Amino acid sequence: MKKFFPISQPSITNKEIDYVTDAVSSTWVSSLGKYIDQFEKDFAEYCGSKYAVTTCNGTVAIHLALVALGIGEGDEVIIPDLTFIATANAVIYAGAKPVVCDIDPYNLCIDPNQIESLITSRTKAIIPVHLYGHPADMRHINQVAKKYGLFVIEDAAEAHGASIGDKKTGSWGHCATFSFYGNKNITTGEGGMITTDDESLYHELRLLRDHAMSKNKRYWHETLGFNYRMTNLQAALGCAQLERAEELTAQRKWIFETYQKYLIEEQFISLNRTNDWANNIYWIICAEIDGLNEKSREELMVSLKKSGVDSRPFFYPVSDMPYINQQIFTPICHRISERGINLPTYFDLTESDIEYISSTLKEKYKPFLKAQLTPNNPNH
Ligand SMILES: Cc1ncc(COP(=O)(O)O)c(C=O)c1O
Repeated sequence: MKKFFPISQPSITNKEIDYVTDAVSSTWVSSLGKYIDQFEKDFAEYCGSKYAVTTCNGTVAIHLALVALGIGEGDEVIIPDLTFIATANAVIYAGAKPVVCDIDPYNLCIDPNQIESLITSRTKAIIPVHLYGHPADMRHINQVAKKYGLFVIEDAAEAHGASIGDKKTGSWGHCATFSFYGNKNITTGEGGMITTDDESLYHELRLLRDHAMSKNKRYWHETLGFNYRMTNLQAALGCAQLERAEELTAQRKWIFETYQKYLIEEQFISLNRTNDWANNIYWIICAEIDGLNEKSREELMVSLKKSGVDSRPFFYPVSDMPYINQQIFTPICHRISERGINLPTYFDLTESDIEYISSTLKEKYKPFLKAQLTPNNPNH
């Protein structure tokens, strides 16, 4: 039978199975239990943050952070136009308006130089997204935020362990949110986390995560809260994965280098680019193919799939979604979004798998390019 390469699959070893089995056997199957405490403590330490709060996924982590910071009706929050829709949706859940900003064409994250022109009297926060494993330019973003008194919530859903210098993502903003969905470098199946150094924010996050139930009076609620709790079972999986974080991250880097080795000569393909100040964790392999548009990209992905290679399109611009009401146009995001595909990226890929995927891509993509080709590979 022909081999099929999915876009992603988690790496589950005996460690994960042992920890989850232990959690189930302990009967602590809901949101109390030793693995929850352990996962929060270890993850905070991993990020270089003082506190961490588990949540049931990365989307509600953003929502919870916004509510805990007091952001709501009438407020505006600046987000990059190129991101998974959860970033924008969480802002809308909070009752605020997402305002999209164009991206840096090199690292694909929010362009800090364009943030200032989007700030109004209603702007309350910036949510930079560390897209596809590359950290956003936090030093610059924090400068802008400080100048205007804005909160910064890092959306680090795709960037566990990425860093700028020695300082990890998750430790740059007022708080940061993570996702542990099954395709992430560290997974809990579904799951999320918020990290922060702010003690009062930490207590507020914990309170709101659990229906804002009074600490001193059970079933008493002074304000509207949520059930955004993670289970001990998920946390057990997370603890095992976190112990393997170094191994899991190193493998992602190797995967990138191996794709690069096989695709570097292709003048119309450019893989993930990394600024010299950044440590990229290569959550997923990004291939920008010069000369593709939305239609030809779709055809290419169908053709790859026929040869056993799964792929994904880059995220569509948030501002293109019919329910997102934006007057802003983001030319760079639009140009890059339509020419990008993600390639299979997961722990168990071997060199010969990557060689096959790369050669399949090389064989398939050329007929889909526009007639007028201009090499756009900064690797050359
Ligand atoms: C950038 C970004 N933000 C937020 C999320 C939401 O996380 P989750 O799927 O755990 O809700 C994701 C998820 O995959 C993401 O990629």
